[in-house]
Amino acid sequence: MSKLRIFIVILAIAIYYFLIHGRCEYKGDERLDGKTVIITGANTGIGKEAAIDLARRGARVICACRSKSRGEAAVEDIKNISGNNNVVLKMLDLGSLNSIRQFAKDINAKEERLDVLINNAGLVICPNYNTTEDGFERMMGVNHLGHFLLTNLLLDLLKKSQPSRIVVVTSEAHRTLVSEMDLEDLMSEKSYSGTSGYGHSKLANILFSLELSKRLKDTSITINSLHPGAVMTDLGRHIEDYLHLPPFLLEALRWTLSIFVRDARQGAQTIICLAVDKSLQSVSGKYFADCEISRESAAARNETAAKLLWDISEKLVNLST
Ligand SMILES: NC(=O)c1ccc[n+]([C@@H]2O[C@H](COP(=O)([O-])OP(=O)(O)OC[C@H]3O[C@@H](n4cnc5c(N)ncnc54)[C@H](OP(=O)(O)O)[C@@H]3O)[C@@H](O)[C@H]2O)c1
Ligand SMILES: *[C@@H]1O[C@H](CO)[C@@H](O)[C@H](O)[C@H]1NC(C)=O
Ligand SMILES: *[C@@H]1O[C@H](CO)[C@@H](O)[C@H](O)[C@H]1NC(C)=O
Ligand SMILES: *[C@@H]1O[C@H](CO)[C@@H](O)[C@H](O)[C@H]1NC(C)=O
Repeated sequence: MSKLRIFIVILAIAIYYFLIHGRCEYKGDERLDGKTVIITGANTGIGKEAAIDLARRGARVICACRSKSRGEAAVEDIKNISGNNNVVLKMLDLGSLNSIRQFAKDINAKEERLDVLINNAGLVICPNYNTTEDGFERMMGVNHLGHFLLTNLLLDLLKKSQPSRIVVVTSEAHRTLVSEMDLEDLMSEKSYSGTSGYGHSKLANILFSLELSKRLKDTSITINSLHPGAVMTDLGRHIEDYLHLPPFLLEALRWTLSIFVRDARQGAQTIICLAVDKSLQSVSGKYFADCEISRESAAARNETAAKLLWDISEKLVNLST
């Protein structure tokens, strides 16, 4: 019963977004020659499509991935499709503070500039509770805390390259799956569910963007977050494992979803828009969907919660050391 309900809910959400938003396509022809972009989780899904587009625009694209084999295969593909050879793989596991510090150290030592940082990697609705290397709940650890540390460690390089941009991939799940930020139980130690854990991590992404936009108000670094739409990517793998449907039903679900849900290229459009659109040069601290400013939930606009979350996150990742 509950699995059938999940099945129906997924379908209903997909149809709803299809009817409300349809498809969007970013049409701008901005070039990024001489600019450098970092994309986390660029080996598949939305991140890979964004990497292809930005490479086509002439950028140096650094793909920050956790798997060497998947990353290398993707970089070959991205070079091949975009015709740009200036695409490189650097290893980054957002579930390890150590790996994040090593990655940032390497970037800060070797890269001359950083024009766009795209925080895209994410884990979705992990059915079972588990922790990262540093003992954080997995989704909060990877989706929020990992990107929190990464962004802070790259801020000086972004400042040096001003005007520069930070693009944060979040989700409507910040609204549909949770009502407010649970700062008392950030790691879901008291109670865990895959859906609320995911919702909280995506709400944290927006609160982080809000607080950082305030901290950067005297600079020319902008930070905005976005919902990419409901997109067919590898994200579904966890949900599929959890649903445990017979193969024919799973095929039926995939087929039905494919009509209403975007493909990864369409899902990447709002990322691309936030990364390159000239008219957004001084827009910061906003939430986007379909290449337009959208309204995040009230909980995501709570400035007190944003400040508190920042302070807690800073301690958890040992930012000062
Ligand atoms: N698809 C949707 O409908 C949808 C809707 C709303 C929001 N989003 C958001 O869109 C973003 C991209 O999702 P997607 O749909 O493209 O998912 P995806 O196909 O599963 O891609 C996720 C990417 O994140 C990487 N990743 C996961 N854990 C990591 C870690 N510890 N360190 C480094 N990289 C890690 C994955 O690497 P591996 O391949 O090695 O696992 C993969 O490259 C996510 O932030 C997600 O929350 C997606
Ligand atoms: C792209 O890949 C195809 C098929 O693997 C190959 O035939 C082609 O030469 C490649 N193109 C470039 C520019 O590397
Ligand atoms: C948690 O993750 C680790 C490392 O990926 C894995 O070895 C372990 O089996 C997982 N534990 C649970 C309870 O899923
Ligand atoms: C904002 O967040 C704080 C801290 O979590 C909470 O105490 C407060 O009630 C919230 N304000 C609103 C208007 O929801």
